[in-house]
Amino acid sequence: MSDKPGSGASGPTDLQDILRAPGFCRHSTGHTAVVEWDADTGWSAPAVGPYATLPLDPATLGLHYGQAVFEGLKAFRGEDGSVSLFRPDDHGRRLARSAERLAMAEMPADLFTRACAQLVAAAEEWVPGGYGQSLYIRPLLLATEADLGLRPSRRYRCVFLAYPADPCFGSGFRPLAVTTATETVRAVRGGTGESKCAGNYAASLLTRTRAQAAGYDEVLWLDGLDRRRVEELSTMNVFFVWRDGDGSRLTTPPCEGTIVRGLTRDSLLTLAGDLGLPAVQEPTAIDDVVDGVRSGRLAEMFACGTAGVVVAVGRIGAGGEDLTVGDGREGPVTRRLRTALLDVQHGRTPDKHGWLLRVGATGAAHAHVIPTDAPHTDEGGGRNA
Ligand SMILES: Cc1ncc(COP(=O)(O)O)c(C=O)c1O
Repeated sequence: MSDKPGSGASGPTDLQDILRAPGFCRHSTGHTAVVEWDADTGWSAPAVGPYATLPLDPATLGLHYGQAVFEGLKAFRGEDGSVSLFRPDDHGRRLARSAERLAMAEMPADLFTRACAQLVAAAEEWVPGGYGQSLYIRPLLLATEADLGLRPSRRYRCVFLAYPADPCFGSGFRPLAVTTATETVRAVRGGTGESKCAGNYAASLLTRTRAQAAGYDEVLWLDGLDRRRVEELSTMNVFFVWRDGDGSRLTTPPCEGTIVRGLTRDSLLTLAGDLGLPAVQEPTAIDDVVDGVRSGRLAEMFACGTAGVVVAVGRIGAGGEDLTVGDGREGPVTRRLRTALLDVQHGRTPDKHGWLLRVGATGAAHAHVIPTDAPHTDEGGGRNA
């Protein structure tokens, strides 16, 4: 068995071995779904096929000028063995917003969801069954026209990849160590910080690599103007849990164009409400975080995202100091929220917000199943179509 992308598995025994401990995106299922857009013909229907390299002209616009945006979403196996995508339409809408910011073709959410559903249906045996495990779907939308003039491409390809996955920081949910960025910023208002565009991640790599060399897991990005307010990590949003009388109060930085509008963040704000935990979007200065850790007012801090789920932050490097949040271990609010989210994703608790979409053969009898071969209804798909 090989760890190379696209390698798939050679047989059922290999597959069972992989599914027991898949790691994060180490083994492609060997399938892709592809949707294409051309200025003359609009969007194609999704085509599911074998994993393959992309035939790209070296003058491809997306490679030179960065018209490349992506998503990350998951399909989960329920208690009853069925398979469901988590909030696929919302991921589709976010991909379209990312594309709009980069003057790319905006794929209709129903087409996005159908491509994901067809891919998951084809790769259904690859969806692991363990709690917290999933099939991770990575859609990449890339400008494919070859031309060196600076202008929006007139052709795009969206390739959907699939990998069985443990949470990206491991299924043990070890608390993370993060450090503030002092030299660089990730985003400024009016920039591309809210988009899941490839360039944002490239821009984070130098600082992230240096942080990791210094013994941290991740960078805690501050606002790009006066570097005072906490924004997010390179691939996850953040929450703070403040002591408030006998209870606790959760805050998370607001979405003002510089952070990714995380769907995990949004789901947790809703689930916190369901659990009776006050949770608000509120700017938070790094100085208040430091004071809160020192005084004990900041009880917990955690990061959240599709890939990592919900993971405690146990240590913060800020202003040349290393601070331990609480006792450095995962706190009860962090654990409670992660469990609440995973319980919905695995169908252990009712999906009262309508976040799950059943797909695949086992979903055929379900009321919300979408046919994987239905024609999509919106040929338009935004202003580029
Ligand atoms: C920069 C950044 N912030 C936050 C998130 C979390 O978003 P989500 O919860 O939708 O995965 C992601 C991941 O997509 C991200 O890349």
